[in-house]
Order: sequence, then C-alpha cells, then structure tokens
Amino acid sequence: MIQAPRGTQDILPEDQPVWRHIETEITTHCRRYCYQRVETPVFEDTNLFVRTVGEATDIVQKEMYTFKDRGGSEITLRPEGTAPVCRAYIEHGMQNRPQPVKLYYFATIYRYERPQAGRYREHHQFGAEAIGDVDPALDAEVIHMAWTIFKSLGLKNLTLQLNSIGCRNCRPAYLQTLVKYYEGLTADLCDDCKARASRNPLRLLDCKNRTCQSAADGSPKSVDNLCPECRDHFEALKKYLAALEIPFNINHRLVRGLDYYTKTVFEVQPEDEGGQSTLGGGGRYDNLIEELGGPATPAVGFATGIERIVVNMKKQGLLPPASQGVDVFMAPIGEPAKLAALKIAADLRRQGFTAMIASGGKSLKAQMRQANGFAARHVAIMGDEELKNSSVVLKNMGTGEQKNVAIAALAEAIKQNPAAGT
Ligand code: HAM
Repeated sequence: MIQAPRGTQDILPEDQPVWRHIETEITTHCRRYCYQRVETPVFEDTNLFVRTVGEATDIVQKEMYTFKDRGGSEITLRPEGTAPVCRAYIEHGMQNRPQPVKLYYFATIYRYERPQAGRYREHHQFGAEAIGDVDPALDAEVIHMAWTIFKSLGLKNLTLQLNSIGCRNCRPAYLQTLVKYYEGLTADLCDDCKARASRNPLRLLDCKNRTCQSAADGSPKSVDNLCPECRDHFEALKKYLAALEIPFNINHRLVRGLDYYTKTVFEVQPEDEGGQSTLGGGGRYDNLIEELGGPATPAVGFATGIERIVVNMKKQGLLPPASQGVDVFMAPIGEPAKLAALKIAADLRRQGFTAMIASGGKSLKAQMRQANGFAARHVAIMGDEELKNSSVVLKNMGTGEQKNVAIAALAEAIKQNPAAGT
C-alpha cells in the first residue's frame, strides 16, 4: 500500500472546520492591520534560500528539498516564506508603492526534518511581512498582530520571548566576544556545537543539549553589546510593547534558526513547553532585500505553523462549531419525482441551504438510511402523489414529525428547524 510520505499528513474533512476557522480569524486580523495577501511559487531558485537563510544554517545544510529540474535549473521547495516575498517585492518594483508594503501569505513549507509531534516535512505557515520601514513601532505592531491572532483563537498561557541580536555594525564584535567565551568550553559541547563555534557561533546559544545550555546560560549577552542605534531601537520596542500591554521575557538565548535577522527577534511559545513547540516566530531583517540585489530596505515579519496552532487549540479544548451539515435530503420515488427533486434541490441551494439527493434508484427505506448516515436534518419524500400536488412529505429527523408541505413553502419550513450553530 502506498502511504503519504513520512512527515506529511492529510487534512481530513473532520479537521477542516478548525483549519477554516483559523484561516478566517487570521484573515480578519490581516485586514484590520492593513495587510494584503500575496502568493509565491512552491519552488524557487535554490540560491534564493542559500543567500538569505544562510549557508551555515540547519535548513540549508540538512533540510532543503533541492533538485535539478529537467532543464538543469537548481530548484528548492520553499523551506520558509520570507525570502520569496522579498524576491517578489524586488521583482515587482514594490519599493515604488507607499511604504511599508504589508503582505501576508498562507503557504506550504518543506523541511527535511526528523518528524515528531508538531514537526512535519510539509507544514502550513501563515506569515506576515511589513517591508520598507525602520520604525520600532512596526516591530511592536507585528508582534501585536501575532499576539492578537493567538488570543482571538482563544489560546491561553502563551509567553513572548524577545531579544535583539544587533546589526552588521555591532554583531561582529559581539560574535568575537562570544567565540572568546566559548574557547575554554568547546571540549564539553555537543558535536553540532563544536562545528557551530567556528561556522555560526550565534547558534551556540539555542542548542537543546543540556551541557551546551548551561554553557550558553553564562555567555555574554547580545543586548549588552548593541551599538547605540540597535540599543535605541530595542528600548523603543520595549516601551511600545509595554504600551500595548503585551508581557514579554527578554531571552538572551533566543537567536532563531535563520541568518537574515537583525535587531529584533521574537517567538511566541506555549508556557508549559520548550522551544520545540514554538507557535510562531519572527523578527527584523534589514539587510535581506539589499543582499538579494534590491535597494536597501528595512523589514520585519513573523510566521506561525497552522499545525502547531491546531495542536494547541485541541489541547486547550478550543474546537470551533461543527460545519453546517445537510439541511435537506431529497428522497424521490420514481424518475419523474427525481427530476423534480433535482430542481427543488438546486433552488434550495440558490437560497443558501445545503441539500443532497438520494443516489441511485434506492427503496425509500434505503434512502432513509442514507439520510441518517449523513445526519440530514430533514428528508423531503416525493412520490407520484406529492408530485401531482406540488408538495413533499417533510420529515424532521430530530423529532420524527412528518407533514405535507407545498414545494413553495419548503424553504420556510426548513428554516424553522435550523442547524445547531448556524
Ligand atoms: P520559523 O521559526 O522557521 O520562521 O518558522 C515559523 C513557524 O513555523 C514556527 O514557529 C513553527 O510554528 C512553524 N514550523 C516551523 N517548522 C515546522 C515544522 N517542521 N513542522 C511544523 N511547523 C513548523 C520562519 O520560517 C520565518 N520565515 C518567519 C519570519 C517571517 N521571520 C520574518 N518574517
């Protein structure tokens, strides 16, 4: 039997209501914060990610789905959504639009990771990017939008982790200080961190290994090594977050797994879990567009995994109302009644009802069983007699009550017994 590839999952009809609810809630908030939807291709030129996400990152080193297409081009399934949006910003001359350009997306993301609870090789992200403004108030607004979306879905016990990792002016000196601090400690580090010490020292700070964590705890902090511009930015951001009443923890070990960040980085985490279950994260990336060959353009954004939201909503018992179901199930007896039933169902759907017609030439008993199987609220039975009188026998499946209803009055009769939650 062929099965779904490891690390992927089908989203079945019973899970759709929660997914649609999340999407609707997110879209509503995007409108309120003046974001416009954008869509980019599932695959891009491999270089787009190597140059932005960073050659030394786990994503580029171990996780990308990269291949040569039949024309010999180096292609990668998108392992994140920010670089493609920036590529589109440059390609479509969006620097000529009023700034900041605020864009959001729902996108499938591909990372060859070790699958575990909440970690997939294909996952779905919602992301938002505000491009073209250096103001720390925009960082605060992006964080506020993320926070508001999670709250509006009913999620509780979340924490906001915040840090500033500086810019190209102050980070090199900080990295030297960090490397120096680690010099005497390398023997105790895990193999990954031994490699990171020379290749990507910032990532030493967020290793999940316990010995590496205690080394990181005592390490010099990036927030103590910021240039005046980054320090002012961080101070202003903290002031704005306080004004917006968003509680935050300064977490000096928060560095994120992508290399393009400058200044602000943040993550939203469920309180009782570790970093493995991060709900969403983001930050500022002031050099990314320039590094892709565009004009120097500051930007800030965040993304969240829909699967992680679903897991947390289920854990917290936050399920949305079930979908609408079947308002009326047409049960015609004989071909002339079937013709009439087709037209009646079409008319009811035009009026906004959900309607099904019994399949095949089943007996009335079999049709009733089918209606039960679909949990229909009403069955409209039509034989020759009803056809002659332009009526149906309408059975309310909740009460068992049965009555003759003129076809012209059918919609009204169904309306009197609406679905729960509609
Ligand atoms: P990221 O932290 O790599 O950031 O991913 C964002 C979110 O996607 C994570 O917080 C998590 O909820 C979800 N996620 C990541 N990997 C997986 C996985 N394997 N399975 C399920 N969910 C996952 C970014 O991708 C940045 N582009 C975010 C950003 C936008 N920064 C600025 N703008």
